[in-house]
Amino acid sequence: MKVISTVAEFDAARKLLEDKTVGFVPTMGALHEGHASLIRRAVSECGAVVVSDFVNPTQFNNKTDFETYPRRLEDDAAFIEPMGVSVLFAPTVEEMYPEGTDYNKKVFDLGGLDRYGEGPRRPGHFNGMAQVVTRLFDIVRPDRAYFGEKDFQQLAIVEYFVKALGYNIEIVRCPIARGADGLALSSRNKLLTPGQREAAPHIYRSILKARDMVGRMPVAEAIKAVVSLIDADSRLRTEYVEIINSLTLRPVTDWNEAEHLRLTCAVYAGQVRLIDNIELR
Ligand code: PAJ
Repeated sequence: MKVISTVAEFDAARKLLEDKTVGFVPTMGALHEGHASLIRRAVSECGAVVVSDFVNPTQFNNKTDFETYPRRLEDDAAFIEPMGVSVLFAPTVEEMYPEGTDYNKKVFDLGGLDRYGEGPRRPGHFNGMAQVVTRLFDIVRPDRAYFGEKDFQQLAIVEYFVKALGYNIEIVRCPIARGADGLALSSRNKLLTPGQREAAPHIYRSILKARDMVGRMPVAEAIKAVVSLIDADSRLRTEYVEIINSLTLRPVTDWNEAEHLRLTCAVYAGQVRLIDNIELR
């Protein structure tokens, strides 16, 4: 596995992969079994796999969140080396957004998919994500790119702009990897205190209960019930629970509004913001 930090070096390494199906797994590092599930799948389906490790400043709407985001490049390299990855691309901010270029100023058409959920609560987040993902796609030039349903809205938005911008890249949807206790694996879990870590699996246990509520009570009541279940643990504070149309991401107010439904949520454990989602129908 080559660890590369500049675009020039990457270009040279990419030339050696010309005849291979190249799979790409973009990440912000602090890698865990959730990322590993994407990487293992990419390795099993592609001739060569590139993983990127870059904490993208333009998608953080909160400065402290950006500054405290865990950075562990050496651990990450050691963790994925045995998985059969060809290149770990870990550029600097200057390399990704060189002075005099407008990569960090581009405004993307996100098809309105950023109007709901995380969009209004993290202004600029999805546009920043689109800036870095398109920049990475242009550098890496993958045939396939792997994204997790953990970030369900991100995945839908990536699928949208890949199509809108005419990228010839297959986006592969990967299921959420969870700990044995049900907690969705996340780099931010590393920031939890032991008490918060103990409370966090209560989020998944609570949202699972919504499956039995579908069609049995009004949507608004089901949302209230799930929020009460989560907040019953005093170490957790729900920011939102939404029940959305899985295709348009628009929150529904009636169960019959959409065939495919998903529950999405954001919950604070102390200062740490955790997101999760499950398929309801
Ligand atoms: P990051 O949060 O590091 O996640 C990288 C990829 O791993 C994303 O596709 C995410 O959905 C997936 N992932 C994270 N935890 C997962 C889990 N428990 N199960 C399944 N997949 C999981 O998402 C980002 O980085 C960034 O926004 C990025 C796309 C790299 C752009 O900066």
